[in-house]
Amino acid sequence: MSKPVQNPLNNGSRAPEARLNAICPYFTMFPLDFPLGILGSAAQAGEWVLDPFCGRGTTNFAARLLGLPTIGVDSSPVAVALSQAKLVSPSVEEIMDAARRALDERAEPEDVPCGEFWELAYHQSVLKDLCRLREALLADCRSPARIALRAIILGALHGPQSRSYPSYFSNQAPRTYAPKPAYSVRFWRENSLLPRKVDVLEVIRIRAERYYGEALPSVPGQILSGDSRNPGIIARIRQLFDGQVRGFSWVITSPPYFGMKTYVPDQWVRNWFLGGPPVVDYSVDGQMSHTNPEKFCDELHETWKNVGALCTPGATMAIRFGCINSRKIDPLEIMERSLAETGWAVHRVVAAGSPKRGKRQADHFLRAAPGPPLEIDVYAMWEEDRRRNPVGWI
Ligand SMILES: C[S@@+](CC[C@H](N)C(=O)[O-])C[C@H]1O[C@@H](n2cnc3c(N)ncnc32)[C@H](O)[C@@H]1O
Repeated sequence: MSKPVQNPLNNGSRAPEARLNAICPYFTMFPLDFPLGILGSAAQAGEWVLDPFCGRGTTNFAARLLGLPTIGVDSSPVAVALSQAKLVSPSVEEIMDAARRALDERAEPEDVPCGEFWELAYHQSVLKDLCRLREALLADCRSPARIALRAIILGALHGPQSRSYPSYFSNQAPRTYAPKPAYSVRFWRENSLLPRKVDVLEVIRIRAERYYGEALPSVPGQILSGDSRNPGIIARIRQLFDGQVRGFSWVITSPPYFGMKTYVPDQWVRNWFLGGPPVVDYSVDGQMSHTNPEKFCDELHETWKNVGALCTPGATMAIRFGCINSRKIDPLEIMERSLAETGWAVHRVVAAGSPKRGKRQADHFLRAAPGPPLEIDVYAMWEEDRRRNPVGWI
């Protein structure tokens, strides 16, 4: 007999237990209330939740808050590191101990990036500490404390300088996007801004207390670094289940918005911390193609088929999707085309974040609006193998 999930949060995403979700900013992430609302109202205890484009792990974190087992996949190293941190539960002491040990492992870092950008972005001693931490975490980041520490550092790498206590390691910089080198150097010079000598361990402690100070449920789950377009992802995930699980009942996801292809270059400093080069990295390995809508649709089509192959009959998929302003493309058209003949039956489309309306109403509402709507929520049900395999895929 299945049981509805318990939602322990009185205040939804404003509850202290939800703070961990904000450990580091990301792009085009959806609000925690989106997956929390869907799962909280309809999921049953024990049902598995998947996000094939997990970004900073919002869906996986919502599942965890509700005690549901979950898997996330993303091809960006920053996304994987952040999402992994949403599933661990080290204590603040364990994180601080991991930070001190990581610093002790290397008195001198082997590799310190040089040049005008790095000289002005970080105080010399801060940069040295960051490099010591980076090298230690690159050598070993298996424990929950190290996974949490890595995400805490990613979230503190760049941001505004506060007048009171420092909350970021860098000179004045944006917190979401990595500072672009030439622009930042000019800005810092014109405004005579020099990086401060911040206490690296103190910044980590304040953040550890904020993000890991609350007790959270532990759930079975994993975050995989991978390409969801590739059918190989099916075997990798099935192997994790080891024949124990019927499949996913819920998929809550948000593919890259059409035209948004800079997830890696816009995060280049965080990417450097994870082992990438100390310069803006324009590679698009593993990222969806944005050259034209047809290719984008084809790639999404493959992804929806892969996802379906991992789902139980009747599974629900909720997709938030949009197109960036400069591309005059209708997101609804892309969704309908990519989902056609995949085994997913669309039953509801609404403007993103609005209460659920029926598809016909939504069609009318969305298509009647002037210009393409920017963001939509699409709800679909997995119907493909309901007759052939009524108990799921194991
Ligand atoms: C819109 S973001 C997801 C944001 C997420 N919903 C959140 O709340 O953080 C889309 C994500 O898809 C990832 N991505 C792009 N192409 C991918 C692919 N082929 N396989 C897996 N992930 C991919 C990007 O790295 C990005 O993190």
